[in-house]
Amino acid sequence: MPDLYLAPMAGITDQVFRRLCFEQGCDRATTEMVSAQGYLTAPPDRNAYRFLLARFPEEGPLAAQVFGSEPLFMARAAAKLTDLGLFSSIDINMGCPAQKVVGGQSGSALMKDPPLAAEIVRQVKRATPLPVTVKMRLGWDDAHKNAVDFAKALEAAGTDLLTVHGRTRAQQYAGKADWEMIAQVKQAVSIPVIANGDITDGQSALNALRVTGCDGLAIGRAALGNPWIFAEIKATLSGKPYTPPPFSQVIDTAMRQAREMAAWKGERSALLEMRKHFAWYTAGRRNSAQARTKVNLASSFDEVEALLRALDTPVPSPFYE
Ligand SMILES: Cc1cc2nc3c(=O)[nH]c(=O)nc-3n(C[C@H](O)[C@H](O)[C@H](O)COP(=O)(O)O)c2cc1C
Repeated sequence: MPDLYLAPMAGITDQVFRRLCFEQGCDRATTEMVSAQGYLTAPPDRNAYRFLLARFPEEGPLAAQVFGSEPLFMARAAAKLTDLGLFSSIDINMGCPAQKVVGGQSGSALMKDPPLAAEIVRQVKRATPLPVTVKMRLGWDDAHKNAVDFAKALEAAGTDLLTVHGRTRAQQYAGKADWEMIAQVKQAVSIPVIANGDITDGQSALNALRVTGCDGLAIGRAALGNPWIFAEIKATLSGKPYTPPPFSQVIDTAMRQAREMAAWKGERSALLEMRKHFAWYTAGRRNSAQARTKVNLASSFDEVEALLRALDTPVPSPFYE
C-alpha cells in the first residue's frame, strides 16, 4: 500500500488536525512551514514557533517543513529542528507560490535557481542525520517547466524523497494538476516520489497512482473538513467499500477539533481559527451558508455546537408536507 501523506497547509495542518487525519489512516504528515531565518532569530518562548512546531506524541511520523533561501540559515535551522527530537525528517519548501515567500527567493522561486536549491539540500544534509525531503512544483510557469531536470539536480545533491505538486508557480492552486509530468519526474529519478495535486477521493487516488507510478500520494485540500479522506482512499486501494460518516459524526469531529484547539490555544483564538474548519465540515449542507454567518458571530463553542447540530435536523420533504 503506498504511503498517504497529509500535504502541509499553513494555518491548517496543526497537531490537532493532523491527529484526526492520522486516526483515519494518514501515514505521514508535515508541520506548517517555518521560516529558517525567523526560527533562528526568534526568542525561545515565541508563541508562533511553539504552536507551529507542536506535536502530539501519538501522531505518526512527522516532517518539519522549513523555507528560506540562504543555505547556511537553512542548515542551522535544520540542525535546531533536529535537536528538538520531535521530527522524523526535514522537508524543504520549494513550492510555495506566495509573494512574501518568493520575494525572498524562497519557496517556488528556488525552482528558478537549481544550483542554489541543490546547495541548500547539500548543506541541510550535512547539518542533520534525518532524511531530507523536498516539496516542489512543475516549474515557475508554463515556459519554464523544469521539474525533471530540477528533480535530478536535487537527487544528485542528496535529497531522500520528493513530493511533486503537479502545477507551476504561475498556476498557484488553479487549473488541473498535470499528473503526466509528475510521471516524468518519477521516471527520471530513483528516489521515492510522492504525487500531489487534485487527489480528492478514492477514485482519483487510484487514477493518480496509475498515471504517475508514484510511491505515495499527498492530499491537501480534500482533507479540509474531511479527515476521512484517508480511510476512503485506503478502502478504495484495497478494493473495499467505503461509507462516509453520518453528519452527526462529522459534527462530533468538528467539535472535538474545536475543544482540543481551545485546550491548547484558549477558546478565543480557537473560535477564530475554527471558523474556516466549521465552514469546511458543513460545506454543501442545506442552510449551511446561514449557519456559517451565525457561527462566525458566536462567542462560545456551546453556541457553535447548537448551530451545527441544527443543520443535522432533517428538513421536511416538500412532497409529504
Ligand atoms: C491553504 C494552503 C496552505 C498551504 N501551505 C503550504 C505549506 O505551508 N507548505 C507547502 O509545501 N505547501 C503548502 N500548500 C500546498 C499544499 O501542500 C498542496 O501542495 C496543494 O494544495 C496541492 O494539493 P491538493 O490539490 O491536494 O490541495 C498549501 C496549500 C493550501 C491550499
